[in-house]
Amino acid sequence: MIYPIVKYGNEVLEKQAKPVVDFDANLEKLVADMFETMYAANGVGLAAPQIGISLHLCVIDTTTGEEPRDKLVLANPEILSMEGEILQEEGCLSLPDFRVKTPRAERVTLRAQDVHGKEFTMTGEGLLARAFCHETDHLNGKLFIQHIGRLKRESIKRKVRKMIKAGDW
Ligand code: NI
Repeated sequence: MIYPIVKYGNEVLEKQAKPVVDFDANLEKLVADMFETMYAANGVGLAAPQIGISLHLCVIDTTTGEEPRDKLVLANPEILSMEGEILQEEGCLSLPDFRVKTPRAERVTLRAQDVHGKEFTMTGEGLLARAFCHETDHLNGKLFIQHIGRLKRESIKRKVRKMIKAGDW
């Protein structure tokens, strides 16, 4: 099932999500739906709050479906370490059409649980490291525009407010 994606301005995107506790068939179904929703939107990552579900859960596939083995489910992810910094364009399905150069760590190690609750640690570099940071931010109520300059951020907020008023958001 493809969910509608919640856009910036909805409060679910700015609150701390609840931990995943039940690793059951419902969670498996939700994860499958999240991948389907993410691929339909041509995204490389999707966090549960982006479909209106305040859970500490996200899916990532930096190959956008080309390599099924690279599909990643992160339940209750926690970043353990970050190294380096890269400035690169970043976007978010909840802020469509805004892409901004955003600083992120070059190499990120996190600990998470898979869809069955099994704990693992993983290190990502480049785009994967960026996705780790972007998606775990979502679970903590943060959006990528919090990492960019204030003027750019205010300009995006103004444009979004205008679109909301015009009914285009
Ligand atoms: Ni996002």
